[in-house]
Amino acid sequence: MTELAGKHIVLGLSGGIAAYKAAELCRALVKEGASVQVVMTEAATQFMTPVTLQALSNRPVVMSQWDAREPNNMAHINLSREADAILVAPASADFMAKLLHGRADDLLSLMCLARPMDTVPLIVAPAMNREMWQHPATQRNVAQLKADGTHVLAVGTGDQACGETGDGRMLEPEEILQDLIAFFTPKTLQGQHWLITAGPTFEAIDPVRGITNLSSGKMGFAIARAAAEAGAQVTLVAGPVHLPTPRGVQRVDVVSAQNMHQAVMNASDAATVFVATAAVADWRPATAAEQKLKKDGSGQVPALSFVENPDILAGVAQSARAQSGALYCVGFAAESHDLLAHAKAKRERKGVPLLVGNIGPATFGQDDNALLLVEASGTQELPRNSKRALAQQLVAEVAQRLKARP
Ligand code: CTP
Repeated sequence: MTELAGKHIVLGLSGGIAAYKAAELCRALVKEGASVQVVMTEAATQFMTPVTLQALSNRPVVMSQWDAREPNNMAHINLSREADAILVAPASADFMAKLLHGRADDLLSLMCLARPMDTVPLIVAPAMNREMWQHPATQRNVAQLKADGTHVLAVGTGDQACGETGDGRMLEPEEILQDLIAFFTPKTLQGQHWLITAGPTFEAIDPVRGITNLSSGKMGFAIARAAAEAGAQVTLVAGPVHLPTPRGVQRVDVVSAQNMHQAVMNASDAATVFVATAAVADWRPATAAEQKLKKDGSGQVPALSFVENPDILAGVAQSARAQSGALYCVGFAAESHDLLAHAKAKRERKGVPLLVGNIGPATFGQDDNALLLVEASGTQELPRNSKRALAQQLVAEVAQRLKARP
């Protein structure tokens, strides 16, 4: 993926031990297609050498406003005018205090002050000891920086380099990268609340066995990420899967279809869009044994009987809010053959405006997929692509339909 292709990022480092993460961040930005110009404060060079960052960014690092390599000797102007964003990571407590007061006694702070505020956003990733982070002075500075139009990223929590535990760590490079990609995404879903189901369900037979399926949850998680990036509030009800929660998404973990049904019912009143990507088990064992079923040596197999699970999508689609148009429902159909015919029939059976068909065995667990959008008015293919790209396309398609509604 090259999601930052064409973007020029000025990556600023102030002094902090988290500077070691900036090397990986720089590499990740370049890998996503961005061009990166690194600017370091003198304190930052105590933690990381400019040589490392020059090698990773493929450009000489700039550290001083007196750098004679700039023909007009105005590095602060030249560097900030070219940027699509200035990203300061790590942003130390001291550097944020400087920003707040408009101080400009080193190149990085001078450049932040001299940037055209309307066209060059400033994003900072704070990094400091937990006591420094909690200090009223820092919290005041964060609030004022936000009020001044600076985009202040969250901090991480957990073990700190100093040996203490708490809030204040810099986010991991991958998290900062995701936040930056989200920052650049047009907010087409502002004010929307998406409720998404994803993954398989697990229906217990006894305490150690159960029935499940091969759904990995990747498609649903990718849709959750794309919707959150487009500005929606997102609740993701996830069956048992091993996937990290997309940034900014509220995740509710469930196991069985009944759990999933309950979680969806709890959240559906607040939702404006419901996307059911989960591969919900159609049936569950009528009773789950409290103790492990044992072989008794007779060669007899246990007689399992099943009951049907609630159809979560059909239930939500029949609710008053869905019927009135306040809640837009999108179903998925995982088929093994005759995709178009099955998807059309399923759309009508489930009573949803949009049903997205895919071939289950060709996509379960894979990183790519192909989608067929089926509506009353016709069908549209989204050709084979990564689930990430398809999720972004699907979110854009739904956003268009929501906008076109009376
Ligand atoms: N779905 C649901 N609750 C169920 C079963 C399915 O919400 N108990 C949703 C799925 O999340 C998906 C859609 O309904 O969005 C279709 O799921 P699928 O398994 O393809 O269809 P089924 O209803 O199970 O029909 P069939 O088994 O006949 O293919």
